[in-house]
Amino acid sequence: MQELLKKVEELKIVPVVVLEDAKDALPLGQALIDGGLPVAEVTFRTAAAADSIKAMSEAFPEMLVGAGTVVNVEQCKQAIECGAKFIVTPGYSEEVTTYCCENNIPILPGVCTPTELMMVVNHGLPVAKFFPAAQFGGLKTIKALAAPFPQMRFMPTGGVSEANILEYLAEPKIIAAGGSWMVKGDLVKAGKFDEIKAMTKSAVDLVKNA
Ligand code: 3PG
Repeated sequence: MQELLKKVEELKIVPVVVLEDAKDALPLGQALIDGGLPVAEVTFRTAAAADSIKAMSEAFPEMLVGAGTVVNVEQCKQAIECGAKFIVTPGYSEEVTTYCCENNIPILPGVCTPTELMMVVNHGLPVAKFFPAAQFGGLKTIKALAAPFPQMRFMPTGGVSEANILEYLAEPKIIAAGGSWMVKGDLVKAGKFDEIKAMTKSAVDLVKNA
């Protein structure tokens, strides 16, 4: 877990990927790597998630390929079998969190309230995904949530963009920010991988000194 978090903190951005077709996994992975961001949270919002994780993690063993929008243990097992190096859940799931903790699988559980955060803290986990960040008060809420749990750090996701990411990353409680702006589904569907690479590079340049 610590090793994964160290890499995520170095990269500062976790692209949230929605792939409708697993054939896009390789060009997308290549675009992210070429843009300087060898990490992806491939979401289980589509039927192509597992195959995409498998293709990406086999082709790019150095890349941090994780699974997002994991809502049950079955998806979690499938993601790990396909090579996912970490699990992200959109909200708190007792069964998924327990399964990951028992099996030494790095997990960032989703939270947006103190109650959910307490559950994550009780598992001894150091980082939670704060989602959906913009809609639940952004940085102000993160600071308020962090006050009673000084050991906790956060990965805000939801409404993060080039316009606000520096503000988030300036807060030491924030390990990295997640977002889909550089990997939007329409760009993927249209095969605009050069554009994805350019947007990724622009994001990486922006956060370079954050
Ligand atoms: C997620 O699942 O983490 C979010 O949908 C990403 O949010 P964004 O599309 O606003 O970046």
